[in-house]
Amino acid sequence: MTTKTIDPMLPLPWRIRRARRDTRDTFTLDLEPAKAGDSLPFLPGQFNMLYVFGAGEVPISMSGDPANPGSMTHTVRAVGAVTKAMSKLKRGDTIGLRGPFGARWPVEEATGKDVVIIAGGIGLAPLRPVIYYILARRERYGRVTLLYGARTPGDVLYQSELEQWRGRFDLQVEATVDNIPTGQNWRGNVGVVTLLIAGAGFDPAQTLAMICGPEVMMRFTVIELLKRGMSEESIFISMERNMKCAIGFCGHCQFGPTFICKDGPVFRFDRIDPWLSKREI
Ligand SMILES: Cc1cc2nc3c(=O)[nH]c(=O)nc-3n(C[C@H](O)[C@H](O)[C@H](O)COP(=O)(O)OP(=O)(O)OC[C@H]3O[C@@H](n4cnc5c(N)ncnc54)[C@H](O)[C@@H]3O)c2cc1C
Ligand code: FES
Repeated sequence: MTTKTIDPMLPLPWRIRRARRDTRDTFTLDLEPAKAGDSLPFLPGQFNMLYVFGAGEVPISMSGDPANPGSMTHTVRAVGAVTKAMSKLKRGDTIGLRGPFGARWPVEEATGKDVVIIAGGIGLAPLRPVIYYILARRERYGRVTLLYGARTPGDVLYQSELEQWRGRFDLQVEATVDNIPTGQNWRGNVGVVTLLIAGAGFDPAQTLAMICGPEVMMRFTVIELLKRGMSEESIFISMERNMKCAIGFCGHCQFGPTFICKDGPVFRFDRIDPWLSKREI
């Protein structure tokens, strides 16, 4: 395996090794470098710019295991022009990739602490590398809890992996759905993900929280954690904005005094909170 310095604006060709559909609108691509032996080490929380030829380029977080940088995994929700074009790609197709970019989740700062991971919808994808990272070093952390909310049972991501994690004695996993459409089966919790917080039973004084999901979900989750006595300094969220360069150059992702691509996407809550409450940022 070789790792080299590359122009951050230059997409490199990566080949789709496996493409699979996760839910109605979400799919996962496993990518391998077109040039065998290349690898791109990344940290949980970082993202790549993925370029679909003829369609455009979008930021997508890594959702795979950081211990395996020779294979990049991305889970994508098809919402618009580029992600819909990406959803049509097949095994063997080539995609342009530049990265990794952005700040990581605080997996090192969490050493010796309890960790609560709270994900909404596709927000589980950028947090999955955190779970791999922690499970590979499980003895370094206290109690680890994953709270996950999806719209419907059919929208639950990584179902078999969630079940596997749930079967472990060293990981507490709770999932909930907003509603159960006719014809879908679900025997778990129903309601928004914030409702799971009360039952999670972590000690706010020694827990670090990592949250990813729609902004409204993150806002209510933070309010609930603060109500339970957690400090703003112990809460981390991941922000999304439109991006072009991903290296702090073009200003597309500016948010208050920060650039989401370079200073984020992961932020300690107290550092981003003043800008979250302002309109028209
Ligand atoms: C740092 C970062 C990491 C990201 N990681 C992931 C990831 O791991 N997986 C993933 O699926 N997406 C991720 N995104 C979001 C992804 O980049 C966008 O969904 C994508 O850029 C949309 O491009 P598009 O051309 O397909 O849609 P566009 O044509 O740009 O948008 C089409 C429509 O979809 C709406 N839309 C755009 N983005 C979103 C969104 N995020 N959610 C809901 N509606 C949206 C727009 O408002 C518009 O109405 C990430 C974004 C950032 C900034
Ligand atoms: S995307 Fe260009 S500054 Fe962030």
